[in-house]
Amino acid sequence: MKGIVLAGGLGTRLYPLTKVTNKHLLPVYNEPMIYYPIKTLVNAGIDEILIVTGGNNAGDFLRLLGNGSDFGLRHINYTYQEGEGGIAAALGLAEFFADRDKIVVLLGDNIIEGNIRKAVEAFRVQESGARIMLKEVPDPQRFGVAVFEGDRIVRIDEKPAVPASPYAVIGVYMYDGRVFDFIKTLKPSERGELEITDVNNFYIREGNLFWDILEGWWSDAGTFESLQYAGNMVAKTGANKMDGPAWIQSNPDKS
Ligand code: DAU
Repeated sequence: MKGIVLAGGLGTRLYPLTKVTNKHLLPVYNEPMIYYPIKTLVNAGIDEILIVTGGNNAGDFLRLLGNGSDFGLRHINYTYQEGEGGIAAALGLAEFFADRDKIVVLLGDNIIEGNIRKAVEAFRVQESGARIMLKEVPDPQRFGVAVFEGDRIVRIDEKPAVPASPYAVIGVYMYDGRVFDFIKTLKPSERGELEITDVNNFYIREGNLFWDILEGWWSDAGTFESLQYAGNMVAKTGANKMDGPAWIQSNPDKS
């Protein structure tokens, strides 16, 4: 299985920190932000990764990450997103790399305490479809939010004013090879982006989206508050731990 880290976008919520550099090169405690999602993939057993970057500082990723050998990667690839067309638009650039294989996608600003190995293993044996991860949060309106009927997810709402559940969809997405066909049919949302939530809703309508709950802390790092929170949590407990609390709570075979 191949891994993709999405590190495009303009990081406007962190301006002026992102005036002269890419958000994913900013420090989260003692490492550049992009290290964390790369290590999340490596710890899940993935050794072939594509980085999708963008903006003015794409060359810095090459200087920082080189050929990926520091992370034990067999191969690292890079591609470039022009503008800020959305997460699904950035993922669309990975079609050639994925070559119809199953993929694990990480948002470049998502940082977790533990690891996602069990969920990735479950996806490895999953015949087809998609798999997402959820985390109960106090502020679900900032995220994609799972809407349940019983323990079945019937829909995901993107940043709803009134969240239907406290379960945020975190930035870890697993897809079969058809994801690129779905992306090609997407229309821009009200914020002018191709939304990853719309991709997930495709799989839900098919009855082919599975989910797991992540244990241990999780944070994005795309706002001043969450960047500071993530840095504090890394300092306090460390991140990407192979053991510890962040095992998968459940793996319901329902969608
Ligand atoms: O963090 C999880 C959340 O991420 C999910 O719950 C939401 O459903 C999902 O839409 C996303 O929400 P955000 O609005 O926080 O995403 P943001 O625009 O901050 O983008 C997250 C990462 O995705 C960013 O660090 C880099 C990548 N990205 C984003 C955009 C808009 C790209 O590579 N290209 C893009 O054009």
